Amino acid sequence: MKAVCWNGTEDVRVETVPDPGLLSQKDVIIKTTLTAICGSDLHLYGGHIPGMRPGDILGHEFMGEVVETGREVRNLKKGDRVVVPFAIACGACYFCRHELYTQCDNSNPNAWMLEKLNGYGSAGLFGYSHLYGGYAGGQAQFVRVPFADVGPVKVSNGAQGLSDEKVLFLSDIFPTGYQAAEQCDIKPGDTVAVWGCGPVGQFAMMSARLLGAERIIGIDRFTERLRMAQETCGADTIDYSKSPDLIEEIKELTGGMGPDACIDAVGMEAHGTALAGLYDRAKQAVHLLLDRPTVLRQCIQACRKGGTVSIPGVYTGPLDKVPIGAAFGKGLTLRMGQTNVQKYLRPLLEKIERGEIDPSFVITHRFNLSDAPYAYQLFREKQDGCIKVVLDPSNGRRGE
Ligand SMILES: NC(=O)c1ccc[n+]([C@@H]2O[C@H](COP(=O)([O-])OP(=O)(O)OC[C@H]3O[C@@H](n4cnc5c(N)ncnc54)[C@H](O)[C@@H]3O)[C@@H](O)[C@H]2O)c1
Ligand SMILES: [Zn+2]
Ligand SMILES: [Zn+2]
Repeated sequence: MKAVCWNGTEDVRVETVPDPGLLSQKDVIIKTTLTAICGSDLHLYGGHIPGMRPGDILGHEFMGEVVETGREVRNLKKGDRVVVPFAIACGACYFCRHELYTQCDNSNPNAWMLEKLNGYGSAGLFGYSHLYGGYAGGQAQFVRVPFADVGPVKVSNGAQGLSDEKVLFLSDIFPTGYQAAEQCDIKPGDTVAVWGCGPVGQFAMMSARLLGAERIIGIDRFTERLRMAQETCGADTIDYSKSPDLIEEIKELTGGMGPDACIDAVGMEAHGTALAGLYDRAKQAVHLLLDRPTVLRQCIQACRKGGTVSIPGVYTGPLDKVPIGAAFGKGLTLRMGQTNVQKYLRPLLEKIERGEIDPSFVITHRFNLSDAPYAYQLFREKQDGCIKVVLDPSNGRRGE
């Protein structure tokens, strides 16, 4: 089969690799019908996540058709159409039983590596380095899905079925934006500011709206992303690259108080031109620092006293110069983490089925899987108005 393989920093290639087979009787094999590139894949592309090996198959946003099932699989059968969450979860451990699926204790055979690095282990992830289990990812024609009774959600086929583009983002970015907004404990009349108008930011804004926020402020520097925030979420927007004092501007928009909640939908690769941003970039370049926390600092500074800072953006290591004293002094609530997608799959699928939201609004580019190297570059550089790329791996037969 064909798959998108990581071969080093900024080097992805479409290669012919062996088809996956069942390794456990709880596995299924799916034939991928649609997959996507996530902002999180860019951290791998940029060489910011340790534990990648040349030849690793990328991708954690994917869906498809079940073509083979292990004997112990109860909920799925051949021919079912499924969307697969990015984190792999056993469904039985303490954390899975408490809906903290990304903390699953049984799905990451390399949890010991994370324990050595950070003192804890967490769930295995598709296509996200050997630290997270070394699982082959979904930017491929076929994928092995472990613990298949726990993760994948079935979507109907046929005439009543929703298109792949409408349901694919249940695998990650729609639940991620939703969890980010839910963590803000939004009350009627609230203002929510969202840094980053990428796909995750767009779904965070959309979800904040669904959860009752009155006002949304979207912050980015790319015009088309700001425009999408205005048009689809009714957000007020700020181009931070043109703002002489972003925090002041946000305060002015909120009667001097600051937003009730601030969402960091940017994470470790934040762009920053101020002195602190340049300093972070230099330290990251020589691996003295894994993350650039420009946006997290701003969220803490801007948020109103007693408000919430919600962090869906990915961070990996210790952070430098984060004003935790201000967060403490203002009595802020900080919420963060990988998304527990399994918890949100069914309720969000129902919202799509009822027509309350059509997640395909975020797609700007559609390519064949074989164009992945170009697509990665385009998405990374945000060229040609690129906001979200989907890749079509169809026409592949097993063994090709
Ligand atoms: N928590 C999770 O489970 C989870 C899931 C998916 C993605 N993520 C993370 O969410 C983040 C966003 O993902 P995405 O797919 O939207 O990526 P993206 O790269 O498309 O979007 C990031 C956006 O942030 C903007 N940005 C950069 N610096 C900024 C700054 N200083 N101020 C304001 N905006 C700034 C960029 O211009 C860009 O539009 C990434 O860190 C990704 O890893 C987390
Ligand atoms: Zn992702
Ligand atoms: Zn578990």
